[in-house]
Amino acid sequence: MKTLAYPFFRTTEQAALAAWPLIGCGDKNRIDGVAVQAMRDALNQIDMQGKIVIGEGEIDHAPMLYIGEMLGNAQSPKIDIAVDPIEGTRMVAMGQNNALAVMACAPEGSLLHAPDMYMKKLVVGKKAKGVINLAATLEDNLCNIAKALGKPLERLRMVTLDKPRHQEAIAVATRLGVKVIALPDGDVAASVMTCLLENQYDVMYSIGGAPEGVISACAVKALGGEMQIELLDFCQAKGESPEHRQIADSEHRRCAEMGVEVNRIYSLNEIVKSENVLFSATGVTGGDILQGVREEGDVVRTQTLLINGIERTCNIIDSLHHL
Ligand code: FBP
Repeated sequence: MKTLAYPFFRTTEQAALAAWPLIGCGDKNRIDGVAVQAMRDALNQIDMQGKIVIGEGEIDHAPMLYIGEMLGNAQSPKIDIAVDPIEGTRMVAMGQNNALAVMACAPEGSLLHAPDMYMKKLVVGKKAKGVINLAATLEDNLCNIAKALGKPLERLRMVTLDKPRHQEAIAVATRLGVKVIALPDGDVAASVMTCLLENQYDVMYSIGGAPEGVISACAVKALGGEMQIELLDFCQAKGESPEHRQIADSEHRRCAEMGVEVNRIYSLNEIVKSENVLFSATGVTGGDILQGVREEGDVVRTQTLLINGIERTCNIIDSLHHL
């Protein structure tokens, strides 16, 4: 894995650089398309046998990097990869902060293999490790986290996404006096910040994408935090309708094929079975952890966060690209 650190951070850099000229273009699909292509090209040059175990596309949804796609140009090492070429396509399309090109990997068989569906996620940093339980209410979790951190609920900060499906959770937290930071998008950055900058957020709660959840879990594990997840079907996340039911039924079928269960709570060690993880995120637009891609004279500068689970290191890498 150590030898993959350099090519992996170069891969998220390439995806961010590809998306950068399109910041503010208003077209999410175009942005995703160029980032996917850049990431695929970069991954195919790496000496590994990589497999996308979770990502945003199924095989018939080309040109996405699809679940099951094999990448790399060697027979070994055999690697599980979780990808989101652009985490926050809407943010790039609208020129908003905190969009990342992001990816995580671990040895074969160690990352949760699941369809691209909704996932409930609860994340805390290392000081609140051991007190979260997704089977309990959010209220109980917030009380237990506050107790573990030795702070009153009024000083607890919960980060979530500003989505209609989170209204109830936001109301519960607010009633308790907890301060809620509701970001427009981007629960990977929110999860990483919860574990990396412990004074910024104490807990991340959201119902968001499963690929983003597995990618975040790699960072959470390497940073010594804790995370629990539950896969939700489309109706549970978006409400009941005949179209949503069809999607939900196909998600249940895909989960059965992949050997994962909807509505089962998975611990961090079940989502990421190895300590030997790499997480790489390059800022596309500027944000709380990373600066976005920017032009400086005749060079372009990128900033990448590379987290290495075995070495327990976080590198923030500034690169100058002569394009
Ligand atoms: P993408 O840009 O990759 O779609 O993800 C942005 C994001 O906000 C994620 O951080 C989050 O997990 C997911 O979307 C939430 O899904 P939705 O956009 O359907 O609410």
